Amino acid sequence: MPRVLVVDDETGVRESLRMLLKDDCEVVTADSADAGLRALEEMPADLVILDLVMPGKSGLDFLAELQEQLEPPPVIVLTATKTVSTAVEAMKRGASDYVTKPFEVEALRIKVRHTLEYRALRREVVRLSDELEERSQFGDLIGHGAAMRDVFRTLERVAQSEATVLVRGESGTGKELAARAIHDFGPRSGARFVPVNCAAIPETLMESELFGHERGAFTDAHERRIGKFEQANGGTLFLDEIGELAPAPQAKLLRALQERVVERVGGGQPIAVDARIIAATNRDLEEEVRAGRFREDLYYRIHVVPVELPALRERREDVRPLAETFLARHAEDNTNTPTRFSRAAMGALERHDWPGNVRELENAIERAVTLADGECVDLADLPDPIVRAGRTDELRNGLQRGEVGLEETVARFEQDLLRDALDRYDWNQTRAAAGLGITRRQLKLKIDKHKLGD
Ligand SMILES: Nc1ncnc2c1ncn2[C@@H]1O[C@H](COP(=O)(O)OP(=O)(O)OP(=O)(O)O)[C@@H](O)[C@H]1O
Ligand SMILES: [Mg+2]
Repeated sequence: MPRVLVVDDETGVRESLRMLLKDDCEVVTADSADAGLRALEEMPADLVILDLVMPGKSGLDFLAELQEQLEPPPVIVLTATKTVSTAVEAMKRGASDYVTKPFEVEALRIKVRHTLEYRALRREVVRLSDELEERSQFGDLIGHGAAMRDVFRTLERVAQSEATVLVRGESGTGKELAARAIHDFGPRSGARFVPVNCAAIPETLMESELFGHERGAFTDAHERRIGKFEQANGGTLFLDEIGELAPAPQAKLLRALQERVVERVGGGQPIAVDARIIAATNRDLEEEVRAGRFREDLYYRIHVVPVELPALRERREDVRPLAETFLARHAEDNTNTPTRFSRAAMGALERHDWPGNVRELENAIERAVTLADGECVDLADLPDPIVRAGRTDELRNGLQRGEVGLEETVARFEQDLLRDALDRYDWNQTRAAAGLGITRRQLKLKIDKHKLGD
């Protein structure tokens, strides 16, 4: 029940208000402004009904002091008819409404109800917007920036539905985590989440993997087997890497999705299944459709709600919180592991391009933790390509401090750029040269000059 504080020096008014409100509110009374302020210190109220004219501290002074509180309760002031101008003054000082004495019972009751409702709604709005503002995690997905916050909003919305979802994103962006989160926050969370990796299963076995088989259906079918579709009955079937599915299983899958029945291989009897479908791919499915490698009708079946996970390099603000989380996770299970990153190391992590996205970051931290001695992960503990990303600053500082001359600084920078390009193209010199905008012959000369080939 909402708590209402009545501040009035007249016993009669206090008691009649108590009688009037006691069914809907917990009513507390005070006979002076000071007593009212003390009562609020002891326990906050949801609403104050305040007499303006009292001996001692006036209602207006009470209001002024109240407004200094962090979240002052709304105030309805009581005023004699001839002092409406005081009521106006009270509104200026933060009162939310006023009632003239002698008050009409029903009018007062309605004002009390509206004020309390308004306050409850305001609180709810504040709570919800805080939650949206601060949500930096959804399931096991971590994301602090605006890009991931948008994703979280979508995930939250689709989780509450039964819609078929297609999760897209580069390798290592968290597609599987997103799929699990949709399941875990949805109406089917009590049932199973059954993943199938369409890339890992040979085409000949795919059908039996998805739909199961009866004993003796084919040479190796010694036992009857329940397929993933049936296992996911009542729950969620996660079709990972769906872009890798061969044409024949694509046709079978489409039928199962359209008719919501499956047939075990060698079985013949159609079995009704109710599985929510979440699919994921890092391929450009539209391009696959155009190239005739992915069925268009299947594409439309699964492309109901697309969710796009942004690449890590498009949300660099997430690098630091992710890196710190992975480091802390490690420290939980191990003793004597580093607990923080050096400035140079963090700078390099934030600058790196992360072609392997969050997975690459996770692996880099894992490796660094085993290499680092002391309580700090340093630049040298990170993999080479990342170190190079962080070295520009280091070179510049060395130059500014007069430790290294210009020639040497430029040479080292050039070496880093050459190594980056060569790594990126697996040391294919023709492509690396093209990437650098120089001829292959020029690249060769530079490789020799810097002795990079050794
Ligand atoms: N936002 C994130 N917060 C925390 N961990 C993440 C996040 N994104 C990815 N990861 C971690 O990175 C790794 C890769 O994630 P996941 O397997 O979900 O990616 P994926 O998109 O399915 O990759 P692939 O396309 O290679 O299958 C996992 O170890 C996962 O825990
Ligand atoms: Mg995956």
